[in-house]
Amino acid sequence: MKLSVTLPALALLALTAAAPAYVANTANTAATVVDGDDHEALEEAMETLKAGQRAVKKGMDDPAANEAELMKHLEAMEAATLTAIPLHAEAPEGLAGKDLARWKVGYRAELTKLLTQILAMQDATLAGDAAALKKGYDALVEVKKSGHEDFRVDD
Ligand code: HEM
Repeated sequence: MKLSVTLPALALLALTAAAPAYVANTANTAATVVDGDDHEALEEAMETLKAGQRAVKKGMDDPAANEAELMKHLEAMEAATLTAIPLHAEAPEGLAGKDLARWKVGYRAELTKLLTQILAMQDATLAGDAAALKKGYDALVEVKKSGHEDFRVDD
């Protein structure tokens, strides 16, 4: 089966398996804007992504030799993304009602794209495919850029 077909399914599976908390939370997520502790949790998840991105960049030329280290970081990045999805960033001032709800859907969709990329990179690592891992890394950087442009208010 082609990876492009299986990955969205994998992402969905990861979301479903992630934690009952995520599922239980979905009704609340659309109405929740982070502050206080949640804001810190989102920052922490982003810091994990940053550390993971660096580690992947360092080891991606030889995924077979660096498999254990790469997988450790890619799995931490997967968990951090799943943590970040329901936390929502601070929305732009003045956004309300349906516009706010759509902004939040967009935020969750962007992080789901990131999750799919991270799973593709795990697959490339386990396959020992340096070219696919590099491609996944480049795509990850693009999702990060667009995610920050669209959803990081102070950027
Ligand atoms: C590999 C990908 C990514 C990396 C390495 C990354 C890294 C970071 C870092 C280092 C910060 C600053 C955290 C701090 O203030 O301590 C940050 C903030 C943020 N990022 Fe990302 N990010 C990634 C992907 C994304 C994506 C896809 C989104 C899309 C929703 C996103 C949304 C945000 C938001 C909203 C903030 C501000 C958080 C806050 O201060 O409340 N990031 N990110």
